[in-house]
Amino acid sequence: MFLKLFLVMVLLSYLALMSLILGHRFLPSARNTVPLPRKDTAFDGSTELIVELENVGKSFDYPVLKGVSFKLRQGETLGVLGKSGSGKSVTLKLIAGLLKPDVGRILFHGKDITGMNERELLELRKRVSYVFQGGAVFDFLNVGENIAYPLRERGMKDEKKIKERVDYLLAAVELGNMGDLQKPELSIGAKKQVAIARAIANDPEVILYDEPTTGIDPLVKKSVNRLIRKLNEQEHLTSIVVTHDLKCIEMVADRIIMLKDGVIHFEGDQEAFHSSPDPYIQAFIAGKRFDEDRRQDPEVRIQESEDQRQETGDRRDQNRE
Ligand SMILES: Nc1ncnc2c1ncn2[C@@H]1O[C@H](COP(=O)(O)OP(=O)(O)OP(=O)(O)O)[C@@H](O)[C@H]1O
Ligand SMILES: [Mg+2]
Repeated sequence: MFLKLFLVMVLLSYLALMSLILGHRFLPSARNTVPLPRKDTAFDGSTELIVELENVGKSFDYPVLKGVSFKLRQGETLGVLGKSGSGKSVTLKLIAGLLKPDVGRILFHGKDITGMNERELLELRKRVSYVFQGGAVFDFLNVGENIAYPLRERGMKDEKKIKERVDYLLAAVELGNMGDLQKPELSIGAKKQVAIARAIANDPEVILYDEPTTGIDPLVKKSVNRLIRKLNEQEHLTSIVVTHDLKCIEMVADRIIMLKDGVIHFEGDQEAFHSSPDPYIQAFIAGKRFDEDRRQDPEVRIQESEDQRQETGDRRDQNRE
C-alpha cells in the first residue's frame, strides 16, 4: 500500500517537474504573451475632416499612386502601411505640399492645397508638420537650438520665451536636460526625439511621421511609440504615421490603411486588419514577404536562378550516372 502511494507520488513529482521544464522550454515567455498596450485613444470619434485625399495620382518613372482616396478626422491617428516603394512617403509629401499630385485633390479643412502658391504653402506647413524619414537634425546646431530653429524662423524673438518653449518641448519628448548636446553625441533614437520636438515646436494641427521607429533598437522604439501616443493625447494632435513597424501601428493607430500597387489595398481598424483573411495582409502580419514581393526582389531572383541551375546540374549528373 505504502509502496503504491510512494510510487504514485514519485510519478506525480516527475510529471510536475517535466511540465515545468517543458513549459519553460517550449511555451512563449510571459513577456511575449502580454499583449502590447493598445492605443488608449484620445480620438473621440469626431467627424470633422482635417485632411481629405480624392483620387490622388502621382507618377515618377512609373505610376506610384493611381487614385488614392482617404479621410483624416480631427484627433485621429492614421497608420499607413505598405512595402518599400509603395508610395507612403510620397503620400505624406503630397499632404505637406512638398509635392504636387498629377491628378486628384488634397483638401485641408476643405480647401484644396494643390493650387496653392508658395506663400500659402508656407502657411500650410506651419499647420501640417512633417517628421522626415531620416530625422533631419541640423549638424551645426545643438539639440536646444535645433528645437528653437522653427520658433526663430516663425519670428519669435523673446529669448526667455524661446527657452521656456524649448525646455517644455525637451521635457515633452523625454530629452530632459540634453539641450546642450551636439548631433554626433546623439543616438539614432534621440535624433528622432529631437526631430519630433522640432516638428511640434510651432503647435501644428497635424503631424506626419515618416518611419519614426526605423533603425532604432526595440527599447527606444517602444519609448518613441509611447511618445507619439502621448503627444497625440496631450497636444491633441491629428496624425499620420507611416511605418513598416506593426508594433508601432498597434500602439498608436486608430485606423489603418495599406498601400499596394498604387491603390488602397486595405482600410479599417486594428481588429479588421488583424482578422483579415487577405493572404497579403496575413503575410505582412506574420512578418513574411508575400511571394509576389519576393519575386520582385533582385537578390531573391539571383538566388532562385542559382538554385534552378544547381537543380538542373544535379539532374544532368543523375542522368549521366
Ligand atoms: N522625387 C522623386 N523623384 C523620382 N522618383 C521618386 C521621387 N520620390 C519618390 N519616388 C519614387 O516613388 C516610389 C515611391 O517612393 P516612396 O518614397 O513613397 O516609397 P515608400 O513607400 O515611402 O518606401 P520606403 O518604405 O522604402 O520608405 C519609389 O519608387 C521612389 O523611387
Ligand atoms: Mg518612405
